[in-house]
Amino acid sequence: MGDKITIAIDGFSSCGKSTLAKELARKLHYVFIDSGAMYRGITLFALNNDCIKGKQIDRRKLISVIDDIELSFQLNPETKSPELLLNGENVEFEIRTPRVSGFVSEIAAIKEVREKLVSEQRLMGLKGGIVMDGRDIGSVVFPNAELKLFVTAEIDIRVERRYQELLFKEIETTREEVKTNLIRRDHIDSTRSESPLIKTDDAIVIDNSTYTKDQQLSVAFELVQDVLSSYA
Ligand code: DC
Repeated sequence: MGDKITIAIDGFSSCGKSTLAKELARKLHYVFIDSGAMYRGITLFALNNDCIKGKQIDRRKLISVIDDIELSFQLNPETKSPELLLNGENVEFEIRTPRVSGFVSEIAAIKEVREKLVSEQRLMGLKGGIVMDGRDIGSVVFPNAELKLFVTAEIDIRVERRYQELLFKEIETTREEVKTNLIRRDHIDSTRSESPLIKTDDAIVIDNSTYTKDQQLSVAFELVQDVLSSYA
């Protein structure tokens, strides 16, 4: 191991794991990858390329064009956050809309979609020094990660955070709609046959229901320091 470790952060939808991963990466000068954004990017591509008609996903069509989908991240110089590019176009706003959230869990359950993204994610993490968040990061993408965190929060707290986030972005929705979507996605994500969301035995649980962002960050940062000092 070099002096930079791999940190895997998993958890349910809208539990604050991307926020934690981003802030932790910033503090450690590591790369941050929001793997959910990549599943959202594929979903947007599917919606815009007739691979989803009405409520029906045309799996075969999506799989036949999957190699045409190029995903990458670009740092926004103002917010200092990475934003998703889909075939060169910045789609950071579109991938967060309810249109995409409504289909992303079904798209993420497709084996070929997961194979493509897991292999791209592993390439991004080859050198360590990465914080990646998602659902299968500690279990599948980086099973040997030096630190695995499993983030949770109470459902109504997650709904409120997600609702406020969408309000801030002026995306029209209701708390009921957000709650229905979160519960549905959590169910699909944890019961699908392809790498479902699980807490691995070696993951440390952070329940951030009562934490501020700063408190959550300092809990995680201390855990990183513990790991780093155990290797020193
Ligand atoms: O973290 P998020 O809500 O942006 O993720 C969007 C969807 O992608 C979520 O419903 C589950 C899926 N996902 C996944 O299956 N595996 C990952 N590593 C990340 C996200």
